[in-house]
Amino acid sequence: MPISLQSRLPRTYRIVKVRKETAMVTSMTFDCSLGAKPGQFVMLWVPGVDEVPMSVAYDDGKNLRITFFAVGDTTKTLATMKKGDLVGLRGPFGTFYEWEPKQRLALVAGGYGASPMYFVAKEASAQGCAIDAIVGARSKDHLLYLDEFKGLPNTTLHVATDDGSQGHKGYNVDVLKQLLATGERPNQVFACGPERMLVAVSEVTAEAKIPSQLSLERYMKCGYGLCGNCTVDPLGIRLCVEGPVVKNETARKIAEFGKYHRDDLGKKQAF
Ligand SMILES: Cc1cc2nc3c(=O)[nH]c(=O)nc-3n(C[C@H](O)[C@H](O)[C@H](O)COP(=O)(O)OP(=O)(O)OC[C@H]3O[C@@H](n4cnc5c(N)ncnc54)[C@H](O)[C@@H]3O)c2cc1C
Ligand code: FES
Repeated sequence: MPISLQSRLPRTYRIVKVRKETAMVTSMTFDCSLGAKPGQFVMLWVPGVDEVPMSVAYDDGKNLRITFFAVGDTTKTLATMKKGDLVGLRGPFGTFYEWEPKQRLALVAGGYGASPMYFVAKEASAQGCAIDAIVGARSKDHLLYLDEFKGLPNTTLHVATDDGSQGHKGYNVDVLKQLLATGERPNQVFACGPERMLVAVSEVTAEAKIPSQLSLERYMKCGYGLCGNCTVDPLGIRLCVEGPVVKNETARKIAEFGKYHRDDLGKKQAF
């Protein structure tokens, strides 16, 4: 689908709400809707620093929200910004999760992956889908979006922490396996989180013969297919256009999936 000029041009928008989620994670709401669908991303410009890709955590036609980890120059500066400040946004870009009304969906979320998974759950539960949301983190202090998932209809929340401080002790993918073992087969499994987690979801769902859609991230510059920085070996697809959400069949043909990615200069970096 061609990307409209309006989506490609950066425009500034005002921050209307800032919410501290955890020590390192902040959610920000902006005074705009870009008509984003769950799984799509925006390019967010922090004036004077840089422009970075961010998944859309929510776009209800009036406001758009993101949830981010403060890890480097751009996101650490963003985390200091306040209600009323301006940022640039371009987008929405990329593919999105696709489902049918009334399907049974299992959503596997790691890290900030909880935010786009919440966006899926909010939209899909309103369409009569039955949702199992499986949220994982290192420990209970790093879990995101639990209250939001709890507030949704037709949604069962499952929690996993590496250290066992809340919910299942171990990985969220273990909980997915347990769920599949009960015989309650979802029609589809969606996942967003660290690439190692995505590889595990890919393997489990391929073995169980359940369709899955995974959100794959690569270093992104333009966001709409121009620069080629986000192409993956050997398919050559651009993950800003043909992704970030890809079907498992596609992910399994990407030789670098779970093995390496490329930095801003195109150099290979092992995971
Ligand atoms: C499609 C997509 C969706 C994303 N959604 C989110 C989200 O919802 N929340 C969130 O916290 N993070 C998200 N990220 C990651 C986020 O873009 C990086 O954390 C951010 O760019 C870091 O920038 P920095 O300047 O603060 O840190 P830096 O110190 O510049 O970078 C830290 C690390 O972030 C990654 N990174 C930096 N710049 C980019 C870039 N232009 N493209 C891709 N990765 C980059 C690299 O792995 C780098 O090593 C997403 C990335 C992609 C590709
Ligand atoms: S980021 Fe430029 S082609 Fe994908």
